[in-house]
Amino acid sequence: MKKTIKDYDYNNKTVIIRCDLNVPIKDGIVTDDTRIKESLESLNYLISNHAKIIILSHLGKVKTEEDKVKNTLYPVYLKLKDYLNTNIFFSKETRGNILEELVNNLKPGEIILVENTRYEDVPNNLESGCDEELSKYWASLGDIFINDAYGTSHRSHASNVGIAKLLPNAIGFLVLKEITKLDGILNENTHPYTVIMGGKKISDKTLVIDNLITKCDNLLLGGGMCFTFLKAKGYNVGLSIVDDDNLTYCKELLNKYSDKILLPIDIVTKDNKIIDIDSINNDDIGYDIGPKTIELFRTQLKKSKRVIVNGPMGVFEEKPFDKGTKTLYETLKENNIKTLIGGGDSAASVNLLGYGNAFYHISTGGGATLEYLTGKPLKAIEIINEK
Ligand code: 3PG
Repeated sequence: MKKTIKDYDYNNKTVIIRCDLNVPIKDGIVTDDTRIKESLESLNYLISNHAKIIILSHLGKVKTEEDKVKNTLYPVYLKLKDYLNTNIFFSKETRGNILEELVNNLKPGEIILVENTRYEDVPNNLESGCDEELSKYWASLGDIFINDAYGTSHRSHASNVGIAKLLPNAIGFLVLKEITKLDGILNENTHPYTVIMGGKKISDKTLVIDNLITKCDNLLLGGGMCFTFLKAKGYNVGLSIVDDDNLTYCKELLNKYSDKILLPIDIVTKDNKIIDIDSINNDDIGYDIGPKTIELFRTQLKKSKRVIVNGPMGVFEEKPFDKGTKTLYETLKENNIKTLIGGGDSAASVNLLGYGNAFYHISTGGGATLEYLTGKPLKAIEIINEK
């Protein structure tokens, strides 16, 4: 069992907390603040326990000076000010005099949000490369390190793994919740156990499929990725997305697990035609699963005791191609089936389609949850001390 945020006394201590405040921002405004809200529990705990708090987070990818301007955390700072009832300061430097002076003047219960840690990636990739000097510098600013950045925990960066090596450490409430929920559903022994996978790319997901297929009873495949499987079975998929590099992978998987894998039997095309999969024309593009497939998948879901959803069934952002994804969510909700939603696109589809509070757990991690579902430990959690 990892040490948690509750295992330290914070009175007058300076705490460095790594959050994942990597949120979508448009024209300087945060458009989805889920990750900010999910970070508040740990921050409020530290405030009420009189810690002096330094928040580190990345935002986007930063490879050039131009990227720095686009990826400032300042809009996140404004959001945090709305949500937290304490003095919050913004350090526009990731290291140097301005930051150090703010740290020296910080009082218990107050917060500094440090500018995007990936500013340190220009020009020498110091943050993403887990540079030792940078890790030492950040660690020197505090007494205790808390990792609450679940969404970044598959990365080995200076601001998570680097600092954790140098300071007494623990996981925060969000990391604890995510891991408890994931383990809770992955490790229970209830069947039928169903996995639904969709989304565009197979290449990102082969390791997840390889791990989950050995444990689940059924794998339902939709979204863009099902067309590579259909092509591997010999169907004409028209102009639908196909990942030719993974055709052999799909063929082998279908041969080995034909009893577990369910593929669509009909689809909805971009021009909104419903067609059976043996009637797809050369210029058709699949945009959603069809009504017969929805019924087939619903029947399977209704019987399931637990379900992992990774990826949408179609182009859910565009009506009417949200129907497959939405109907399956509705089925899971109506039948009160223990459902974990994991992976970036899935969480976005759940929120957009109005199922934000309907399920056992909606993970805030995209890549991190994908990696966890492959069965691998997450580096920035593995490094945290045991109790
Ligand atoms: C995410 O959004 O998945 C995390 O914040 C990690 O971001 P990254 O893929 O840029 O490392």
